[in-house]
Amino acid sequence: MKKILAVAAAVTMSLAMGSLVACGNNPTGKGGVEVYESIELTEETYAFAINKENDALTESVNEILSEMIADGSLESLVNSYFDGTATFTYENKTSSPAEGDFVVATNAYFPPFEYYEGNQLTGIDIEIGSIIANKLGKTLYVADMDFDAIIPAVMTNQADIGMAGMTVTDTRLESVDFAMGYYSSAQVLTVKKGDTTFADCKTVADVEAVIAQQTASFIIGTQNGTTGYMYSAGDADFGYDGFKNVQTKGYPTGALAMQDLVNGRINAVILDKQPSLMIAKNLNK
Ligand code: ARG
Repeated sequence: MKKILAVAAAVTMSLAMGSLVACGNNPTGKGGVEVYESIELTEETYAFAINKENDALTESVNEILSEMIADGSLESLVNSYFDGTATFTYENKTSSPAEGDFVVATNAYFPPFEYYEGNQLTGIDIEIGSIIANKLGKTLYVADMDFDAIIPAVMTNQADIGMAGMTVTDTRLESVDFAMGYYSSAQVLTVKKGDTTFADCKTVADVEAVIAQQTASFIIGTQNGTTGYMYSAGDADFGYDGFKNVQTKGYPTGALAMQDLVNGRINAVILDKQPSLMIAKNLNK
């Protein structure tokens, strides 16, 4: 009798595991994620990257941003992307930039700063880019590329400006200038919904202590070349030792890291706060 029960239990268990696996492979991202949004792991300022030789552009951009801060239009522009009332969209007029275009280098998988709605680009940075282009009397051209290609593009004048929710860091300041800061942000942790590993965490120290307890099979997903990667893997110039006991995995976009989290391939994602919340909202739909 006992044995039969045990067999029945084993069957139920493997069925349950089978359905778990099926659920984990669901490409639509069912199952969801949970963002620890109130625990800000870093303190960061976003600014636009400009070639060190192009002081005139840095000055113009700072003037335009100062005006937008003074008249409140920057704040309402930013807010419109948080409350869903933004209407601005953009599509390049040509397949490559024309001479004299205002070329914005970005990585457009970072909502609400830059992302696609169908074929149209939108987001805080893209809309500010169009305002700057207008004021300069130029046509906007958005060059979407890998995040770690943006600074090289600005340095080689293949782009006029990097607008990509980019954090000002000492290392980047060696390669490019930054216009004035326009947004404050932070890295945050995301786990799969129902994962209780970090459930008792209230502070940064709590999160870091729990990560420090994990083993090498614990994988943190981040976007390549970003401050999230630097925080997780360690970067002396950015001021973080990183977590040497776990693996940090770099993805081409934060959204791909989140997708792997939903699919159970990694244990956590460390990504900028607003993009984490936006991507999570889409995955949790
Ligand atoms: N703020 C982070 C950094 O500067 C991430 C930026 C990612 N931006 C993007 N458009 N994908 O490293």
